[in-house]
Amino acid sequence: MDFHTAKALLDWQVEMGATEAISETPINRYDVPAQKPKPKPISVQKPLLDEVDPVAVAQAAADAASDLDGLQAAIAAFEYCELKKGAKNLVFSDGNPAARLMIIGEAPGRDEDLQGRPFVGKAGQLLDKMLAAIQIWRETPDATASVYIANVLPWRPPQNRDPKPEEIAMMLPFVKKHVELIDPDVIVLMGNISCQAMLGRKGITRLRGQWTEAVGKPVLPMFHPAYLLRSPEKKREAWHDLLMLQKRLTA
Ligand code: URA
Repeated sequence: MDFHTAKALLDWQVEMGATEAISETPINRYDVPAQKPKPKPISVQKPLLDEVDPVAVAQAAADAASDLDGLQAAIAAFEYCELKKGAKNLVFSDGNPAARLMIIGEAPGRDEDLQGRPFVGKAGQLLDKMLAAIQIWRETPDATASVYIANVLPWRPPQNRDPKPEEIAMMLPFVKKHVELIDPDVIVLMGNISCQAMLGRKGITRLRGQWTEAVGKPVLPMFHPAYLLRSPEKKREAWHDLLMLQKRLTA
């Protein structure tokens, strides 16, 4: 096959939504003999989706978790969020669980999905630089100079689309339990999705830079670092918010 034909075929696949190559040679699924699905034993069969309230299931699972390992296991066992099916890894958290500062981001992207850690791609690298500018690091044992990071959604949405309101609603009990277990002094909400989940409000341009409250904690909404990468002129406001955060943490 010549270069131009191969390139046109590749472009077509990208347009159809392919984001990565998963094997060296193509597989013609029409040639693969159909496999009969094995019947599942009755005892482990999941009730039909419309018979259960995923939010209630999530709430019960979150309530039963008494520590971070338990919460991670409860999220891993939660079967009602479609995002889980397309994700490579569960992205639970990173940083120091004893930190006074907790950051809640939106959802993992491609790099986070591959590594199973939040904020490790380009936006995450900018986040690390922003925090280092106010003497905060992920890996520091000192609770005042460290950060704990989680996301509203623990699984990557396909093509990095915005999470749906029902996906946010069913994962919210886990996020709230996460905050309860970490018990930070201060929370930063990164971007609109986190504000929508935790404050029930969107409009980050108006919300940012003003302390508010959620789940009984002081909360500071900030521009998401991915947005700052697209709109570097907004870094001025982000710096203002970082200084507000530093003042609160060192008061
Ligand atoms: N953006 C987020 O909100 N969270 C991540 O983990 C990565 C990018």
